Amino acid sequence: MKYRTLGRTGWKLSEISFGAWAIGGAWGDVDDHESLAALHAALDGGVNFFDTADVYGDGRSERLLAQLKKERTDHFYVATKAGRRLPQQTPEGYNRKNLTAWVERSLTNLHTDTIDLLQLHCPHPDVFYRPEVFGILDDLVQTGKLRHYGVSVERVEEALKAIEYPQVQSVQIIFNLFRQRPAELLFQEAQRRKVGILARVPLASGMLSGKISRASKFAKDDHRNFNRHGEAFDRGETFAGVDFATALRAVADLKKLTPRNATLAQMALRWILEFPAVTCSIPGAKRASQVMENLAAADLPPLPRATMKKIRGLYEGQIKPLVHHYW
Ligand SMILES: NC(=O)c1ccc[n+]([C@@H]2O[C@H](COP(=O)([O-])OP(=O)(O)OC[C@H]3O[C@@H](n4cnc5c(N)ncnc54)[C@H](OP(=O)(O)O)[C@@H]3O)[C@@H](O)[C@H]2O)c1
Repeated sequence: MKYRTLGRTGWKLSEISFGAWAIGGAWGDVDDHESLAALHAALDGGVNFFDTADVYGDGRSERLLAQLKKERTDHFYVATKAGRRLPQQTPEGYNRKNLTAWVERSLTNLHTDTIDLLQLHCPHPDVFYRPEVFGILDDLVQTGKLRHYGVSVERVEEALKAIEYPQVQSVQIIFNLFRQRPAELLFQEAQRRKVGILARVPLASGMLSGKISRASKFAKDDHRNFNRHGEAFDRGETFAGVDFATALRAVADLKKLTPRNATLAQMALRWILEFPAVTCSIPGAKRASQVMENLAAADLPPLPRATMKKIRGLYEGQIKPLVHHYW
């Protein structure tokens, strides 16, 4: 495993880290024993950063991370998120009373006195035009409830606005073979301001593992079943917003570009690491075997220039016209 510095925090994060949404819920049935085995495998493989949220399984994901901390002596960072407990996303919801209550709840779930990194969880875009919200977060840092804070966003423009606030240390955004727009302007700006980038949905919800086919079935409570058109939350969070048939066609072409001795999932994760502005990717995983396959991507040599070019060409031809300007 290799490590990259997160913004101005001085923290060195594993360049392939762990996304803990699936082990909380909304991805079909999960078994806590299997989830814990996946978390242990991540630590064994050098992962030192885990991304979760208060709403993943209504705290289940955070509690699994607390359990991991109990079972291991290794040091690791946990980033959680706040804001999605609101019944409706409004900028007014991001007030002192709510933010303090969400933070207290996460502290309890995580069995800790201080949250390493708190991220606003894809809030209403107007939140980024309310300096008072960031003032509240500064106060929470002052009182020791938070070490640092950052944002998780849907759109590049939200990120560009958020990083104007000087204490924002990280931006979590979808970045993968099917979502390349963040590399245009955001990465440059984030590097200039020394803000870390956490690349989420790196496997386009598993699509970029190459295992999904037209015949794949997803459980009723799996967002790949119920959110393909944005029925429950932003459609970009499911298969990175690319329609199923187009995604399958592109994946078939991407498979032909996979380096020998690597899987498509590993190429997808290695591709993200070609961008120095990225601190780490946070692939989700439900099983230890998935974690091990994903972490091995960190040991791959850089992708050949010709492959990078072909990937870009494939994106330009098949994906960009459909999704590029939405996020
Ligand atoms: N709004 C937000 O802030 C937000 C939104 C989305 C995600 N996130 C964060 O980003 C993290 C990553 O995104 P994500 O989990 O949505 O999507 P992802 O990482 O693109 O896909 C993860 C899923 O792909 C499958 N998978 C993983 N490794 C695999 C492998 N090697 N081979 C085959 N299948 C594999 C697993 O599901 P199956 O085994 O069921 O196929 C896994 O749950 C989340 O866990 C969460 O921490 C944040």
